[in-house]
Parts: sequence; C-alpha cells; structure tokens
Amino acid sequence: MSLASVGRMSAPVDATTTAAWRTLTGLKAGLEPDLRGWFAADPARAEAFTLTAGDLHVDLSKNLIDDAVLTALVELAEQVGLAERRDAMFAGEKINVTEGRAVLHTALRDPDGAEVLVDGTNVVPEVHEVLEKVYGFADRVRNGEWRGITGKPIATVVNIGIGGSDLGPVMVYEALQPYVKAGLTARFVSNIDPTDVAQKTADLDPETTLFIVASKTFTTLETLTNARLARGWLLHALKRSGAIGDAESDESEAIAKHFVAVSTALDKVADFGIDPANAFGFWDWVGGRYSVDSAIGTSLVVALGRDSFADFLAGFHTIDRHFAETPFGQNVPALMGLLNVWYRNFFGAATHAVLPYAQLLHRFPAYLQQLTMESNGKSVRWDGSPVSTDTGEVFWGEPGTNGQHAFYQLIHQGTQLIPADFIAVAQPAYPLEDGGTDVHELFLANFFAQTAALAFGKTADEVRAEGTAEEIVPARVFSGNRPTTSIMAPALTPSVVGQLIALYEHITFTQGIVWGIDSFDQWGVELGKQLALKVTPAVGGDEAALAEQDPSTQGLIRYYRASRHSLRTAR
Ligand code: F6P
Repeated sequence: MSLASVGRMSAPVDATTTAAWRTLTGLKAGLEPDLRGWFAADPARAEAFTLTAGDLHVDLSKNLIDDAVLTALVELAEQVGLAERRDAMFAGEKINVTEGRAVLHTALRDPDGAEVLVDGTNVVPEVHEVLEKVYGFADRVRNGEWRGITGKPIATVVNIGIGGSDLGPVMVYEALQPYVKAGLTARFVSNIDPTDVAQKTADLDPETTLFIVASKTFTTLETLTNARLARGWLLHALKRSGAIGDAESDESEAIAKHFVAVSTALDKVADFGIDPANAFGFWDWVGGRYSVDSAIGTSLVVALGRDSFADFLAGFHTIDRHFAETPFGQNVPALMGLLNVWYRNFFGAATHAVLPYAQLLHRFPAYLQQLTMESNGKSVRWDGSPVSTDTGEVFWGEPGTNGQHAFYQLIHQGTQLIPADFIAVAQPAYPLEDGGTDVHELFLANFFAQTAALAFGKTADEVRAEGTAEEIVPARVFSGNRPTTSIMAPALTPSVVGQLIALYEHITFTQGIVWGIDSFDQWGVELGKQLALKVTPAVGGDEAALAEQDPSTQGLIRYYRASRHSLRTAR
C-alpha cells in the first residue's frame, strides 16, 4: 500500500455525526410502521415510490418509509459525500485505499471511444482490445475453427476459478441458459475438494474439452491445484487413448489446444505452461467480485456469443449512467443502498434476503454474497479508524417458490426484521401451460401474494372471521410491516442480467460510502489462507508441525488421520 495514495483520499465522514443521521434517529423513534394505513391514506403511494432504472421497474413502496425518511436518507447521502465518491470511482481515482488501486469495473462496460484515465493512461482502448481478443477466440471455438489436439471441435468449456473468478460466470451462465449455443456447454470447477474436479470431468471427452483457467492473481491455491489436476487428467486420457505420445512437445501441443487462461498476471500464466498467446488479461483496478464483465467472462462469451455478451455489457452501462447521472431522490441503486442502511443501522436488521422469482437466477443470491459481504464485511474505515456503526449485513436467498416452503415462515412470523428484495421478469423463459393455466402467471401470483402478505399481514379479527378457534388465533396472525422491494423487468435478457448485477454493485458501493469503508479490499480472507498453508504439513503427518497447532486443531487432525487411515485399511 502506498501511503501517498491513502493521503490523496480524504478521511471518511462519520455518518453518525451528520445532521441527517440525527434526523433519521428521530424519525425512527417516532415511526409506527403501518403499511396498511399508509397505503389506505395515500392511494398514490405505490406510484410515488416506484422508480425506473433502465429496464428495471422498482417498487419501493412496501418499505418502511415515508417522504420524510426518504428525504433524510438522501440528505445522508449528500452529507457523507456519496456524489463525490461516486464520481471519484468513475474517474479512476484510487479509492481502493488499502490496496492503492483505482476501482474501475465501470470502465469495462464503457463504449469504445470513452476516456477514463488511470495514472494518465486512458484504459478504455485496452479494455476493447482485450474484449476483441476474447471475442475472436470465442468465435473460433463457436464456429469450430479452434479444434482439440485430435482435430475435433470443442463441445465443453470448463472454467476453473473460485470466488469472483467463478461465481459471476456460473451465475450468468445459468441465468442465460436459453442463450447458450446448442451443442456447447460450460462447466465450472471451483472447490479444492477433489470431488469437484473429479465429478465435473468424469463424463467428459478430453478431445472436445477446453479448460479456461481464470484467476486474477494466478496464485490461488484452489484454482492452481484444480488446473494441475485438469492438466493431469487431460494428458493422461489423451495418452491412454493414443491421441498423443509421451514426448514433451506432444504435451505442450495438447495444452496449447486445450488450455487458455485469464489473469492479470500473464507471467505466471506462462510459468504454468499456458502459451501467453492463449491468455486474456485484465487489470488490478478490476476487483475479483466485480470482474464477470472482464475477460473473466470468457466462458460466457464462448457459450453465449459476442452479441449477447455485448448486450450484457450494455446493460451494466445503462445502470452505470443511471447511478452516475440521476439525482439521489430517483436514483435506484443509491436509494436501495440507503434503505439497506436504514434497516441495518436503525432497525438492527442483520440479514437481507434476495428472492428471485426466476429459476434461472438460482445462483444470484450466492453471487451477491461475495459481492456484498466481501465488500462490506469490514470493521475499520478506509483511514484505519474503527467504524462507528454496524456494517455489512448477511445476504442470502433462494429462488421462489422453493423458499416459500422452507424459510419464509421466519420472514413472515419470526422475531427479526428481514428486508427482502423480490425479483421477477414478465416473460417466462419457458412458457408452459397446465390445463389452460399459464404456469408463469401462477408463479408470479406467488411473488405478488408474498410481498402483499409481508406488507399487510393478517389481523386477529381477520383470522377470527375465518372461524378460527380462539386459542389458535395468535399463531395465525401476521404482523405485516415486513419490508420488501419488488424488482421487475420485461425478460431475463443478457442486458437485464447486466443491469441487475450493476444495480447491486452500486447498492453495495452506496452502503460502503455511508459506512466509510473500503468496499474493494478483502483482507479478511487472508488469515485463513495463510494458516491453511501452515496446517497442511501437520495434516500430512508432520509431527513437529502438528505440535505447533492449538489443542483443538491437533485433536481434529488426529481424528482425521486415524479415520482416514482406518478407512483405507478397511477398503
Ligand atoms: O477470496 C479472496 C479472493 O481474493 C476473491 O476476492 C477473489 O475473487 C478470489 O479470491 C479468487 O482470486 P483469483 O481470481 O485471484 O484466483
């Protein structure tokens, strides 16, 4: 970290010392949530609190807000300098203070011809140069020009990566299944559990498989281990079938045809044995969890094609412009971020549910967990001072309606407030009918019913009116006033998926600025990684290394060693 770069970034404003925070504290103290009453008193409430960002139709009206709260939240944004920080991010200033880096995922989706300077160099031409290289490569795989070592076209791409080098690609690949080219599939290997690579390669034909090793740093233990396992699997299988011989030149030719890489560290790619000509670069100003729209999305470009990927990037850009240009009172990401602060800091909400009513978005909550929690799970601010209030909430979720039959009980009637985002699209990917009933309509009826039930609940009198026995009435009452935001879009297109991701990126940014934290570092994942390296020899039987561990860890390792050994003997 360069101290000079820290010096350039002004100290964060302590949000809790602002006039807006005091106003919000007073408003919360006097707030008597009554969504039923508020809607009854103001028939225009839904319209007034519904906003548009690109193709996203966002209804905030079922949140615990009124005009005064919204005004104070916008004032809070102004008083903590959200506009200045946002502009600094878009301009390429080094707002990732603890790593001394610019934060420019927004430049990845800037159109050709735009200018964003980092240390005096316009990065947009480089972005488009790499994009063209990725597009050219993907075209060759898709049209069969790129062939495996035995001359067969590629049928499966396997992305090997973890965290931001996995979660984005796999989430988008699932979300855009209907756009995947017929005859091509992608798989994603991430976990260092050997089960992952073993299962994902078990039924693959090495002659038609292409591995994409995706790692920003190209040092990540999981990814490099899995890449070596995949390389071993490929070479072994090709030799066994007689496709290649034992010569080193045979091996390197096979690797050249079956391995490409994506990284910011192209020297390390070469050390691994992948030809730098088959590597796609990106830059340290792209955070791992913000990188699906960089070359990290190469598996997506292969599966979806350049046109869909361009639409995907255009979707991000639409929301970037909205965030950059819209006054905060109508700015969807800013308001959603501020609402999260409202619930986190004034209601003590420790978790936030994201509930896609779109099966294709089934990995979206998992993707958001890294985006939001690796970004905002911090206890110190960007100047090193302790935070003055709670920060990052736990994000979680599952697609509706599955979640309804699992955990919604707690959201409806539990003791804690869990703000929830409901997401749906109007056009189904697979329009099916059940005896004349449009199943997508049945599905969306659940979305609408759930958000209404959470907002308006069911009173004891309403329960009694149904003839319920008095002793059961309390169990069947729904308090209501459980806040939700409804996000709808016309269809799950590549652009809409890009818009959704950018929406949450900027929500996360907004929260981070209010809390004064560096949302772009991730020092909290380092300690466990370092300890794993120290523990590895002990797990492998090194008694001296074992003796250095704490008693609990020693006990666990001894249990593991004894169990593993006895199982091996029994087999
Ligand atoms: O978990 C920490 C982390 O650094 C993430 O931020 C990142 O997305 C992931 O590891 C993978 O890193 P890399 O792309 O360098 O392999």
